[in-house]
Amino acid sequence: MVITIANQKGGVGKTTTAINLSSALAFMGYKVLLVDTDPQAHSTISCLNNPTNFEKSLYDVLVNLKTSITSVIVKTNIPGLDLAVSKISMAKLEPTLIGEIDGHFRLKDALEPIRQQYQFIIIDTPPTLGLITVNSLVAADSVLIPIQSSYLCLEGTDDLLETIEKVKKVANPHLFILGVIITLFDKRTNLSRDVVKRIKQVFGPKVFKTFISKSVKLEESPAYKESIFTYAPDSVGAWQYKKIAEEILERIKNEKNRLT
Ligand SMILES: Nc1ncnc2c1ncn2[C@@H]1O[C@H](COP(=O)(O)OP(=O)(O)OP(=O)(O)O)[C@@H](O)[C@H]1O
Ligand SMILES: [Mg+2]
Repeated sequence: MVITIANQKGGVGKTTTAINLSSALAFMGYKVLLVDTDPQAHSTISCLNNPTNFEKSLYDVLVNLKTSITSVIVKTNIPGLDLAVSKISMAKLEPTLIGEIDGHFRLKDALEPIRQQYQFIIIDTPPTLGLITVNSLVAADSVLIPIQSSYLCLEGTDDLLETIEKVKKVANPHLFILGVIITLFDKRTNLSRDVVKRIKQVFGPKVFKTFISKSVKLEESPAYKESIFTYAPDSVGAWQYKKIAEEILERIKNEKNRLT
């Protein structure tokens, strides 16, 4: 199952979700690859002690069809979790691939030879709806949308949904929305509770039952190159990301049953 985490709004918890969901699944015993497609390389920086030590990154794989993705996959500090590394050079991808007929299919093609080696491939995307995010949606089986429980959080979701629909129509008809994760939730504020109501009005049952609360531990763990499960295993954040992973496994099972 390839899961792309997308929302073109910045700072909504895409990377935090990518790292901690991947880690939750890895701790459950699944073989997981995290693919960092963001030129900011936050997943790469947060998972590795030496994030700039690499000659090549996903950029080289997507630009040069002869470069295998295995050449940019490394083991992370997190047990059972591999990572395809990003670098700032990913920012050059869009201008480089302009005019290439298969420009939107590069990531899908790059993942093809290793797709069976992992039970989960989680793709972290940048805060844009450009070529990188479209490549990530084309390569995916499903998409996860983190939405921050804040004022204006639904601004732009129409554009995201429209992009998903276009990708389905043109390139990936089986793509489905796995769910919406409410992030940075603060149960003390009326605003957070109101916002959840609005998100549920738009996305209905797609919204996961578990919310991710605002948590200092979740904010701190990347600085120590750890997932929440080793940094603060007894924290609320660890419990919530584990619950989200369980809800995801349940949804995938139901989706498979629906299709068979
Ligand atoms: N549940 C949380 N509680 C507290 N801080 C959080 C939580 N989730 C994310 N953060 C912090 O908020 C900031 C933005 O989160 P994150 O990097 O995951 O968002 P993003 O959507 O990947 O951002 P970008 O669009 O820039 O890639 C980070 O500093 C992160 O540590
Ligand atoms: Mg990010």
